[in-house]
This record gives sequence, C-alpha cells and structure tokens, in this order.
Amino acid sequence: MKVLVIGSGGREHAIVWKLAQSPLVHQIYCAPGNGGTALENKCKNLNIYKNEELLQFAKENDINITVVGPEVPLVEGIVDMFKEASLKIFGPSKKGADLEGSKACAKNFMKKYGIKTAAYEVFENPVDSIEYLKNCSYPTVIKADGLAAGKGVAICQNFEEAKACIESFMVEDVFKGAGNRVVIEEFLEGVEASILAITDGETMIPFLSAKDHKTIYEDNKGPNTGGMGVISPNPYCTNEVLESFIEDIMNPTLKGFSEENMDYTGIVFFGIMITKKGVYLLEYNVRMGDPETQAVLPLMESDFMELIMCALNKNLNNYSITWKDKHSCCVVAASGGYPSKYDTGLSISGVDSTEDKVFVAGANLEGESLLTSGGRVLAVTALGDTLDEARSNAYNEIKKVNFEGMYYRKDIGKI
Ligand code: AMP
Ligand code: GLY
Repeated sequence: MKVLVIGSGGREHAIVWKLAQSPLVHQIYCAPGNGGTALENKCKNLNIYKNEELLQFAKENDINITVVGPEVPLVEGIVDMFKEASLKIFGPSKKGADLEGSKACAKNFMKKYGIKTAAYEVFENPVDSIEYLKNCSYPTVIKADGLAAGKGVAICQNFEEAKACIESFMVEDVFKGAGNRVVIEEFLEGVEASILAITDGETMIPFLSAKDHKTIYEDNKGPNTGGMGVISPNPYCTNEVLESFIEDIMNPTLKGFSEENMDYTGIVFFGIMITKKGVYLLEYNVRMGDPETQAVLPLMESDFMELIMCALNKNLNNYSITWKDKHSCCVVAASGGYPSKYDTGLSISGVDSTEDKVFVAGANLEGESLLTSGGRVLAVTALGDTLDEARSNAYNEIKKVNFEGMYYRKDIGKI
C-alpha cells in the first residue's frame, strides 16, 4: 500500500515510524515532513503544503490511504475534499473537525449530549463579555473560540486580568478572527489527562491514557507550550476514572456523532480533568496529540495500518488493540528561549548514538546534518517496566543529544 501522511511535527514522525513497521505498507510519503521522516524507513518527504496540491498528488500517485496529522487541514475540510474525489482518508469531516475548530460548537455539543463539562457562556462581543465578567467568580477561564495554536486559553485571577484578556482577544484581535467569539467558563481544579480514541463512527476504542506536561518550566510553572513531555499510561487514570470516562464522556460523544451525522472516522483526543467532583471533559481535539502520539504509539503492539484500515472499513467492532505491558516516557528538547523567541539553524549531534527512539519535530535535514528549525526540536521516548525505569531510560538517552541552547524539563513523569 502507498500511504500519504500530512504534517511536519514530532507526531507525524511517530505516525510514519509506526506505519513503516506494517508489512501492509510499501511506500510512505510525508508532506511536508521533517528531518526525522526524511530518514525513516520506506518514507519520502514531499514539498507540498496546500490541500488542493495534496489531493492532486494522491490522485496522480495512486495513494491508497491518506492520514492527516494536524488540525488545520481537517478544519479546512480536507477530508470532505478527498472523499468527494473517492479517495480514502483517515480523519473527520469538516463538521466533525469543528469540535476542535470552534470551542463554542464543542461546548454546545457536550451540553446537548449530557457530557460533564465546566459551566460556560458564549459571547459574541466585548461589551457583553466584560459585563458578565464583573459578576462572575474567580479564577475564571476565557477561551478564544477558534484555532489559536494552543494559545487561546487564559486563566484569569480577577476582573482586571479578565478585562485585559477580552481586550486582547476581541478588540486587539491577537488571534486574527479566532477570538471574535469567546467562551467564558468555570475554573476546574484537578489533574489533567489526555485520552486518544479511534472511531469509525459506530465503535470507539480508547488508546492508553497519557499525561502531558504543558508548561515550559518544572512544577507547572511558566507559560504553556505545545507540550514538553508525556508519560503513558497516566497514573491518575485509575480504573474508576476510565470507567467514568467511557460511560459519561466517550459513549455519549459517539452517540452525538451518530445523531448529528458527523461522518467521523479518525481519532478523537479527549482532554479531561479529573476532579474531586468527578471526571470532566475540557476539550476535544480531532487529531492525535503532540507529543502524546510520541509516547502512546511506541506502546502499541497492534499494526497501526491494519487498525486504520479497520476504521475506514467500519469494522472496528471486530478489532481489539493490543498494547505492550510497559510504561513510556517522552521528553521534549526545545530551542533555548521557546515558547518566546529562539534561534534556528543550529546543528544537532548525538541522535544516532541514542538507544531509544528519537522523534524529530522542528529540525530539517540539510545534506547529512540535522539542523534545528522550530521551538520543539525533538523528543526522546523510552520504555520501561515501570514508570521510573522509563523515566530514567529517557533521561539517560536525551543526555546524548545536543544542540546549542537545548532545553528540556527534568520532571517529566515525576508524580
Ligand atoms: P483547552 O484548549 O480547552 O484544553 O485548554 C487548554 C488548557 O487550559 C487545558 O489543558 C487546561 O490546562 C486549561 N483549562 C482549560 N479549561 C479549563 C477549566 N475549565 N478549568 C481549569 N483549567 C482549564
Ligand atoms: N499536547 C496537546 C495537543 O496536542 O493539543
């Protein structure tokens, strides 16, 4: 089979790496890919970015299945485009992707299908938002409705902060339209977990749970990033939490997909908050997480291509995913200065000397050299029989990698 993977991050490197292990896959193209996918078995990078060009490439090159990594092409409707051209593509339709593309749409869906989520109101203009914020309790959470590359959520401690946030989202328009509408919601206290699940629209199967580490500094300090490391499974996801997740969140979501005719074949990423009052759904993402994927796929024993084909053939009810009886720890190495300004073009050494898997994110191959090109540069994922063993393996290995200014958190998986 010939597979096209869309995206250029560490997530896409992990997807390509896992798909390349499948005997069903003969050739992978990654568009545009990165310095890691360029070196991966069976894979070739393509310098193609636009949805129309990707469609053209898939048609002309007899691509059997396309797998979409990031949310932007999904929200733009790439799945509908491919399906209209009778091409197989793994991901939700535009209607399904709006669950990530619009926070108001996601919250209204959760409310309609009785899914436990923070109490909320939606506002379309700054005057009404600020009037509401005068009398709400603090801390309060303000979310830009549209896609804001993970930066559209602010936790405000008082009215002054909340007012400044509304001015920046709605008046200064820092997210170029994505903050024209906001969701203001109740602040929940608890522990977060990420649970990915695969669905064919009729059956949904959860993957192993994961725990992201979002802030740049240790102990949840500093600004949020795309994610500085992940462990899987998430030690806070007890059987009781997972049962509640399946019954109160996952199953009603699937019911909603069917009642709304969402045509959802792909991955649902549930961002949950485990609180003293139960398990709440914070958000849906309509794609795999980054770096959750880099921690979860290495634990998957099953053939990922076979699993994706089962979903596309609406056959998931006959499939059971097998997992390694191990723990994984994924530590992200970022450019010095990230998530603010950072340098690029720096040479990376030591990747070949690591025993565990290095997933490349923001780095390109220039000749024989791997050069940094983004904020999150790479991630090392190690497995172990216990979480402690996985952590110590990951930290031993990441020391072998180096580039000028390289920064990583020392507390990934420290519970
Ligand atoms: P979201 O994009 O909706 O997941 O929000 C990004 C991050 O903001 C989450 O991962 C949480 O850390 C935080 N967050 C979002 N909603 C809430 C909430 N209602 N209460 C507390 N923290 C929240
Ligand atoms: N790691 C969080 C995300 O992928 O959105």
